[in-house]
Amino acid sequence: MDPAPLTQEPDLAAANERLLVRLGFDLHDGPLQQVHALAQDLHLLRGQVLALTGSDHRDQLAGRFGDLESQLTELHQDLRDLAHSLEPRSLLQQPLPQAVARELKRLGRRTGIATSVERDGAFDDLTASQQIALLRVLQEALSNVRQHSGAGAVHVTLLADEDGVAMAIRDDGHGFEPDAVVPEEDGRSGIGVVGMRERLRLLGGHLELASAPGGPTVVRALLPRWQAGIG
Ligand SMILES: Nc1ncnc2c1ncn2[C@@H]1O[C@H](COP(=O)(O)OP(=O)(O)OP(=O)(O)O)[C@@H](O)[C@H]1O
Ligand SMILES: [Mg+2]
Repeated sequence: MDPAPLTQEPDLAAANERLLVRLGFDLHDGPLQQVHALAQDLHLLRGQVLALTGSDHRDQLAGRFGDLESQLTELHQDLRDLAHSLEPRSLLQQPLPQAVARELKRLGRRTGIATSVERDGAFDDLTASQQIALLRVLQEALSNVRQHSGAGAVHVTLLADEDGVAMAIRDDGHGFEPDAVVPEEDGRSGIGVVGMRERLRLLGGHLELASAPGGPTVVRALLPRWQAGIG
């Protein structure tokens, strides 16, 4: 067995987490505020334009402005959700099963995809790093379901026993060939799957990806019970 310096593993996980937190703050202070300012400008413009428009076209123009304003409101909400999801305290406010249910509810609300969750075991002795890693894996898996799967339903299973904790995310979408997903150095291909693997590996666990053209797709995250030096 390779006597890798275990002390570096949590350091790396923590450094990753700090980067995400900073990204969340940058998102909050930059794009989020800009979208807010843009919405206010648009609202002002609406008033000015409508005041100058003859009654023939006013309703039509008001409708167009209304559309744009609701798109901006939705963009603002999405960016806000994203900024909050990058903040790890929000991931630790609730026990794992409730936090998982919250992420699923969010997906259902945005996409109409049916979601369900099933659990077995006790999840209260997970370390903060373990819970954060599992929820980050879930977020990425759900974002893949949303972007790539065409699924109508997602089912999440959570299992905790004396060996560790397992989380499986199954979607009934069209599936893909996992072996064909190879990270390229040119940075064009996605980093989601690589990131999920890495997060789990840093905590002594691993990721299993089962899919095939035609589906379904199952992403399984496995973490061993916490041991000194790896939490
Ligand atoms: N649930 C899924 N259903 C269908 N295809 C999937 C699913 N999850 C992943 N894939 C496929 O695997 C590829 C790699 O996923 P990965 O998350 O690594 O990258 P990405 O989502 O394309 O980009 P990124 O995550 O960096 O934004 C995807 O482009 C997609 O083709
Ligand atoms: Mg992805």
